Amino acid sequence: MTQLTFPSHFVWGVATSSYQIEGAWNEDGKGESIWDRFAHTPGKIQDASTGDIACDHYHRWPQDIALMQSLGIPAYRFSINWPRVMPEGQGRVNQAGLDFYDRLVDGLLAAGIEPFVTLYHWELPQALQDEGGWPARKTAESFPVFADYITRRLGDRVRHWITLNEPWCASFLSYQVGEHAPGWCDWPSAIRAAHHLLLAHGWAVPVIRQNAPKAEVGITLNLEWVTPASNHPADLQAARLRDGYFNRWFLDPVFGRFYPADMMHHYQQTVGDIFDFIQPNDMDIIGVPLDFLGINYYTRFVARSGPQTAVLPVAHATTPDTERTDMGWEIYPEGLFNLLNRVHFTYQPAKIYITENGASYHDTPNKNGRIHDQHRIHFLHRHFIAAHRALSNGVPLAGYFVWSLMDNFEWAKGYQERFGIVWVDFQTQQRYPKDSAFWFQNVIQTNSIPLIDP
Ligand code: FCB
Repeated sequence: MTQLTFPSHFVWGVATSSYQIEGAWNEDGKGESIWDRFAHTPGKIQDASTGDIACDHYHRWPQDIALMQSLGIPAYRFSINWPRVMPEGQGRVNQAGLDFYDRLVDGLLAAGIEPFVTLYHWELPQALQDEGGWPARKTAESFPVFADYITRRLGDRVRHWITLNEPWCASFLSYQVGEHAPGWCDWPSAIRAAHHLLLAHGWAVPVIRQNAPKAEVGITLNLEWVTPASNHPADLQAARLRDGYFNRWFLDPVFGRFYPADMMHHYQQTVGDIFDFIQPNDMDIIGVPLDFLGINYYTRFVARSGPQTAVLPVAHATTPDTERTDMGWEIYPEGLFNLLNRVHFTYQPAKIYITENGASYHDTPNKNGRIHDQHRIHFLHRHFIAAHRALSNGVPLAGYFVWSLMDNFEWAKGYQERFGIVWVDFQTQQRYPKDSAFWFQNVIQTNSIPLIDP
């Protein structure tokens, strides 16, 4: 046996998100999002760039669909920019914005590409942020209305819906760490934001089901494989806390298990009695049954005990000899295998999609315009093997989306990081498929990967 074959209906795809590729930040009636505001604020983005133009996908989407078609890509995960469709986040609908996504979906279907649509990949309308943002319950109440407009328009054609992308990033990274929009650094706000994001998810699911009865509906969480730096009890404790903060805080409620009791206790001790935002029935709403869980997996977290004064006395242990991508993230395919098994055995989702996995490498085109991104091929190959092993273990893995179709605006890093399997020249907007794109094309065609590392 020299090849590992995937199940016959396994879905292979690529993923993007609206702010990272669309550009056209103020065209055709689009409202401002928190990412427009954040990127326009000096000092927030490392290379001082913005997503104003990004990959200009808003104008170049027909070529981008043709590109995917030429690479034989069967499925495409993209997201809807909320203020493009509802400039103030509530009330008024911008027809031109809805029309854009309508044409995109038709274009994909005509090209034989299955759309997987994420409703929220972080572009909160600035108008809703001005009224409190995700820490305010009102923001959650606006979300199912937005979901309703979108799914009434696209629900006849889109069969896969993802409510939220990575609620940890949209809450803790955005309102506690301050690295993402809107850049707050406040624990109680972050934990409220997380709750309201989950509530928004719970409220949106029945709305989507109503408008798209044949579709499958899920949520995408970013999960880490967490390991302790040593067997010292303090490090074991740190690993438990990190896992509770990053993974279980979202997995448990989404699967109807309330928030993890140990973490609630921990936050009560460190931040105070902050749980007044949980109202009767909230946890039932959040625990609504789903058709699938989307997992974004990039790396593991090695936890060691950190400063005792912090809310979370956890530090990321440096592991000097490990292989890293150009982003600096440790390459740890074993973590994907472990995580898939853990989620399967602990939470029993009906189906799992890997909705993102990929790597940033800074390779540039050679004089023939070819990009020999061997490292990315190596990275993907090892992670595909891990996924295949999980399948053999009985994990109901239904598909795998590579992040990303093309190089794009990597949030606070700007354009310094390149996750695409297609290289983008941001001066000319030319796209150049990297070697990994052709390698992936072959994986898709054969529905298999070589056992031997390419
Ligand atoms: C994930 C995001 C995605 C992309 C990758 C690298 O956290 O969902 O938009 O930036 O990281």
